[in-house]
Amino acid sequence: MFKKILITSGPTLEPIDPVRYISNRSSGRTGYYLAMEARMRNLGPVTFITGPTVHLPTQVEVVQVETAQEMRTAVGGHFRSSDVIIMAAAVSDYRSMKYYPDKMKKSSERITLELVKTPDILLEIGRHKRKNQILVGFAAETEDIFANAQRKLLAKNLDLLVLNEISDANPAFGNEENQVYLVRPDGVRRLDKMNKAHIAAVIWDDIVSLAGHS
Ligand code: CTP
Repeated sequence: MFKKILITSGPTLEPIDPVRYISNRSSGRTGYYLAMEARMRNLGPVTFITGPTVHLPTQVEVVQVETAQEMRTAVGGHFRSSDVIIMAAAVSDYRSMKYYPDKMKKSSERITLELVKTPDILLEIGRHKRKNQILVGFAAETEDIFANAQRKLLAKNLDLLVLNEISDANPAFGNEENQVYLVRPDGVRRLDKMNKAHIAAVIWDDIVSLAGHS
């Protein structure tokens, strides 16, 4: 059905010194289920680019990276030849400006760490997306969730945005279940709370229907 499917997954990890890093909460489960579902349905060859996680799909090409910069390089090598790109990775938005090659000692009561932005991989891809490519992004929001989602859909030139509302009732991270919204330029659909394997199946139903319309 598809020539090539590119999926990013897991967190990225931005080192501060040899023993410390900045990261995001992400188990990598949703990305894993998306890859396994694509394989099960025989939708096309999958390249899976992931930050550190225990959830590695089998019988697909797996590329393991650590930092946002490494993920960007790996994605750059596969983006043009892919017709479906799903960016499920929780890329760290910031990294320490400086890497301290020796472990920082706790000699002072307060320290300040200067952070700089990492490249927004999804934004870059959205800018270069071709008409025959389907681009899917993820968002985690805590306030004004629909306005923010619409803004991201447009800004990042997405065909589909999987929106997580992060709240006490729906912690999302680390859980087997989640409640998400599928946001498309033509409307928003609320999915009931369900397990992440099931969510992956519904996301693929949507992508397949988008491909039929393109
Ligand atoms: N993403 C990315 N590169 C980054 C940050 C995020 O590719 N440096 C991608 C993620 O893979 C995901 C989406 O962008 O698909 C998540 O965006 P999110 O972090 O929710 O929003 P941002 O656009 O970064 O805005 P903000 O953090 O201000 O909400």
